[in-house]
Amino acid sequence: MPEYVWQHDLKGERHRLRLMSDLLDPSSRFHLLRTGVTTGWRCLEIGAGNGSLSQWLAQRVGPAGHVIATDIRTDLMEGIAGGNLDVRQFDVVHDERPGAPYDLIAIRALLHHLPERRAVVTKMARWLKPGGWLFIQEPDFYPTWTVEPPSQKHLWETFIQWAATHHIDFYVGRKIPAWLQTEGLLDISSEGHAILYNGGSAFAQWWDCGIREVADKLQSEGGVSQATLDELFTLYRDPTYWTTTIAFTVTIAHSPT
Ligand SMILES: C[S@@+](CC[C@H](N)C(=O)[O-])C[C@H]1O[C@@H](n2cnc3c(N)ncnc32)[C@H](O)[C@@H]1O
Repeated sequence: MPEYVWQHDLKGERHRLRLMSDLLDPSSRFHLLRTGVTTGWRCLEIGAGNGSLSQWLAQRVGPAGHVIATDIRTDLMEGIAGGNLDVRQFDVVHDERPGAPYDLIAIRALLHHLPERRAVVTKMARWLKPGGWLFIQEPDFYPTWTVEPPSQKHLWETFIQWAATHHIDFYVGRKIPAWLQTEGLLDISSEGHAILYNGGSAFAQWWDCGIREVADKLQSEGGVSQATLDELFTLYRDPTYWTTTIAFTVTIAHSPT
């Protein structure tokens, strides 16, 4: 089984996932509200990381509802369980459905890492109650095609190719609506949101962190030079450098009633 690359115990990973929550939670919440999630719903989050979205969902569904926040590693969710929020160690590839069918299943920024991503979508669709909603937020790296200068565009191309050797699909976002259609889900809506950011911004810090964590591998396995990495780290501190490297797609759909 391929190893998940950005392990929680990498230096900086806790900080990177905190930045990720701060950056993505507002758009995730916006789209989760479009499912109608409300009092009394039973929700499951898969690969919850630090659990920020599950905590919000738990508030949203109230004491009559229930949320299970799951991850293969629950260390970043210590202390958040209680009331209507459970934290559970769980591997979405190999484990069976945790608990009864759900009104809402949410997964963010995990499918692209899983070689079994298509089969996982089938599993999640089957774990829904009739009429239950699936929420999937995943990256699509098409903005990297426009990166400047050329040395940095080449770095991102190499990054994506290197990631593919670790079974990571950085273009998965666009594939999800068709997969949900094949699963028989209804009212599918999907949109991508490309982020433009400048050096010094929270998004630049997030990338700085994420690239540093795998810099050794990028050099030894991807052939990226130290000079190109240093150029990125310098640009990502420069507030006059604006770039776009990632879009997040959000796809929601529900099972037939
Ligand atoms: C990129 S992080 C995203 C965390 C969170 N969903 C977010 O968006 O902030 C991916 C998470 O998925 C977890 N993960 C990796 N493989 C998994 C698996 N097979 N089953 C469940 N969780 C997994 C990792 O431990 C990590 O916390």
